[in-house]
Amino acid sequence: MIIAVDGPTASGKGTLAKQIAAHFGVPYLDTGLLYRAVGRQVAINGGDPDNADDAIVACSFPDELMQDDILRSEETGGLASRVSVHPGVRKALFKRQRAFAEQPGGAVLDGRDIGTVIAPDADVKLFITASVQERARRRWLEMVDKHIDHEEEIPLSEIERDVVNRDSRDINRKDAPLKAAPDAVIIDTTSFDRDAAFDAVREAVERVLG
Ligand code: DC
Repeated sequence: MIIAVDGPTASGKGTLAKQIAAHFGVPYLDTGLLYRAVGRQVAINGGDPDNADDAIVACSFPDELMQDDILRSEETGGLASRVSVHPGVRKALFKRQRAFAEQPGGAVLDGRDIGTVIAPDADVKLFITASVQERARRRWLEMVDKHIDHEEEIPLSEIERDVVNRDSRDINRKDAPLKAAPDAVIIDTTSFDRDAAFDAVREAVERVLG
């Protein structure tokens, strides 16, 4: 059983995908982390994330990098979004994601193109979204709560601008843009708290699986 969870930045799809994976007892892959590792590796190499060659070289990042907390920073998220436009990067990361999806017993993957490119054969496709303002607010609260960012505290208006920029880059890139698969269940969590969002997602999965 493959469950594909796609959606824009800060939509809560990662948390929901992780909860769904735990609920059904299947492994989970945050594919955004792979793009974040590439973005971070470009920075370590002193390369340019907008240069396809620099970004492709960075796809051979060491596995330990996936554990580095800096991958979760706003800055690395921006780098990830920039390297993810290069078709060579997407191609280099495809096999790893596809192999994860195909493992016996099933898997849950979250990202931007899971239901459209990585696992168009997924049993369940979810597209999780929320308004720009709500996503920026959640990201800001998360940063303040967990002090996960390595930068100084960033004003909400700046986070909102970043969310808009990221959406625009993710939606408008030519290769594997962010979009809901035609057969995806779209869940807008703008007015939901965490429990209500999980209930909506669980009910959708159970409905699709029959
Ligand atoms: O989900 P995230 O914020 O960690 O993703 C960071 C960036 O990585 C996102 O802006 C676009 C890219 N990405 C992608 O292109 N395809 C995926 N399946 C996952 C992430």
